Formats: sequence, C-alpha cells, structure tokens
Amino acid sequence: MHNKIFKNKKILLGVTGCIAAYKAAFLTRELKNLGAEVKIIMSPSATEFISPLTLSTLSVNPVIINTFPSSKTENSDMGTWHIDLALWADLMIIAPCTINTVAKIAHGFADNALTTIVTALRSPLLVVPAADVDMYQNKITQRNIQTLRDFGINVLDAEDGELASGLNGKGRLPELNKIIDAAALILNGFKKKDLENKKILITAGPTYEDIDPVRFIGNRSSGKMGYWLAKTAYLRGAEVTLISGPSSEIIYPEVNFISVRSANEMEEAVKQNLKANEILIMSAAVADYSPQKKNPNKIKKESKLASIQLKENNDILASIDKKDKFVVGFALETENGISNAKKKLKSKNLDMIVLNILKTNQSGFDTDTNKIKIIKKNGSGKDFPVQSKFLIANNILSEIVKRK
Ligand code: CTP
Repeated sequence: MHNKIFKNKKILLGVTGCIAAYKAAFLTRELKNLGAEVKIIMSPSATEFISPLTLSTLSVNPVIINTFPSSKTENSDMGTWHIDLALWADLMIIAPCTINTVAKIAHGFADNALTTIVTALRSPLLVVPAADVDMYQNKITQRNIQTLRDFGINVLDAEDGELASGLNGKGRLPELNKIIDAAALILNGFKKKDLENKKILITAGPTYEDIDPVRFIGNRSSGKMGYWLAKTAYLRGAEVTLISGPSSEIIYPEVNFISVRSANEMEEAVKQNLKANEILIMSAAVADYSPQKKNPNKIKKESKLASIQLKENNDILASIDKKDKFVVGFALETENGISNAKKKLKSKNLDMIVLNILKTNQSGFDTDTNKIKIIKKNGSGKDFPVQSKFLIANNILSEIVKRK
C-alpha cells in the first residue's frame, strides 16, 4: 500500500530500552520491504533487549550506539556524525520510545547518541512510546508527551492491551501497521492533527441481504476505502466511529467499531450514531433491494425457485436528518458518472460527493488504488489521479477540512 511513499526514503530508526525493542526488528524489515533506506541508532539500554547485530543485519547498515569512540585509537573519523545523520534523514522514528527518552527529549537532553541526534534533527520526528500501564499513565509522562506534541513532534499513542508485566492497560507499542501508516502520513506532508476534536461517522463495506440461512444478495465492495478513511481520520486526530458491513479489513482498536450485515441494520446504526457525530462519510455500498422475506430454512432445489421477490430498502443518506452535519456520499457509476453524481449530490442533499471512476483496472472494487472526482455542493469539482486508497482517503479528508 505505501510502497510509493517509502521508496528511497531515508529513515532513521531510534530504538530504546524496553521489552518492545524486539519489535524494532520487524519494523526495520517492513520499512526495508517498502523500499526505504534505514539507519538505526540504539540507546545503550536497548542493547539489553535486542542485539545490534540483528538490527544492523536487517537494516544493512552499521548501528550507532555510542556518542564517542570506545577507545582513543578507534573510530576517530566519527567527527560530526550526529549532524550528518540528522541532515541525512527524511524522517526519524523512535519506536519503542521509553518514558525516560520521552522525558529527555521533552527537556532537550543530549546525553547519548540517540538523544543527541534528536536535538540536531531537521526532519520530522515520530515518537512511539511504550511502557507498562502505570509508567505510561504517570502524570509526569503524560505531561512530557504533551510537551513533545506542543513542540510539533508527532506522538503515536500507546495501545491498550496485555502488557509484559501481566497487567492490562494502555502502554503497548502500537501494531506495526499503524506505526507505518503514521509514518506514511508524515512523509506525505502531514503536519498537524487537523481533525482534532472532530467526531466522524464512517460507513464501509457491502451489505448482505439474506435469502435463507445460507444465501444472500451482496456486492463486490471490500470496505477498503471506508477503512482507510477511518484509519487516516483517526491518525489526523478525529474520534471515529466505523459502521461496517461484512469485510475482511482490520481496523485500529481506537476506532469505535460497529459491525452490521444488512442495509436495515446499517440504517439503524447510522441513525443511532449520527446525533453524536458532526461529519458523516457514507462510503458503504448499501444494497438498494432485499428479499421480501428471509426463508427460515435452506431453500431446497426441489422447490424449483424461479424468482425472488424483492423490496426496496430505505435510502439511508436521503432519509437522515442532516441539520448541522457535514454529509459526504459516494457514487459508483459505470456510465454518465459526473451527471449521475451531481444528481445524487442534489437529490440526497449532500455537502460533497466522491465519484469513483471505474474506467481503469486500478480503481473500483477490492483494489488498493482508486481514481476519484470530488464534487461539492457549490458545484466545484476536483479530479485526482490514480492513487492508493490511503492517499485518496487523505485527499477526501483534506477536502472535508476545507469544507467549501
Ligand atoms: N446509499 C444509502 N442508502 C441506500 C443506497 C445508497 O445511503 N439504500 C448511499 C451510498 O452509501 C452512497 C450513495 O448513497 O454514499 C450513493 O450510492 P449509490 O449506490 O451510488 O447510488 P444509489 O442511490 O443506490 O443509486 P443507483 O444504485 O441507482 O446508482
């Protein structure tokens, strides 16, 4: 998904001393797979948890640990390495970042190679703290994290879950895919959480309309577009609720997740949750029709079923109360795309519609890329090239932030 963003990017990976340090090996591997060049700096205590040899082998670069050569006769050419590396990097990620290193960065300490380079850094910095629950929730830690944010440093919140101590709570290193998504967002120019304090309701995926306990009428939507909208909206600071039809996509644990099956269930869920949200993005491919009745038992071949009676489902977008809401719809058209999308924008009284352009094999169902046109209420239109659904999601969110 992020190959284009990471290709040939220079990533400085800082690793500090906590149990999650072993995950830096997987992160390095993933960054290399995405085409990035990776150089690693470890804090001395990180070497207690993972071997520098492991990380230098995976990154295909020497690992830096000490600020100074270990003897007077060694490495005298190190010179101003910290400035050289700081200038080299397109992005520095510190994952995991202990609360000790968080505190040092927050107060400008430069007492080891890793913290020294942070003070000289010109590139953006992504800090990913990890600690046991009480250490992480500690008021001083939280204040230090806030200090980093106030200085414009990106901090990815720790996740809730089982910790090495056996305790449960917030402090886990986020899943690697989320760290990579957050890094991709920064490399793509993301600077500040422009959706902070916004509550967004997003629908995704297909709906399944049951015929009997075994069969259903569905469609080819994978849910990818809606899930990327939910994930990137979360990373940009929003509080996100995702209502999803059946999909194999995976969502971050911080997104409120509501699983539904049919158009009816989706309608119920949207109506229940709309009040608490100010933005609705309806990217689900909702079935327009469902069987008039669901057979309680499997329909047998001998019944010689020739047709299924259908009834029209409610149009969720058209029927909801949109007062004080910013409402975004999607249009999936195989012909007369622009005029049909404009008609839907008007008839469903939307603020914005995203037209999926199905003409290319890099767009549409179950692809990782898409081609869209955004049309707004004021009639303005904007075309986008074929892009990853991650970038498309970010472009849609940026248009929502602009509103007009
Ligand atoms: N939609 C909805 N409720 C429905 C059907 C669609 O809220 N019962 C929403 C979709 O989520 C999408 C928009 O309406 O945001 C347009 O959906 P689309 O399937 O393209 O259009 P329809 O209105 O169903 O019209 P048609 O199928 O004839 O193109």
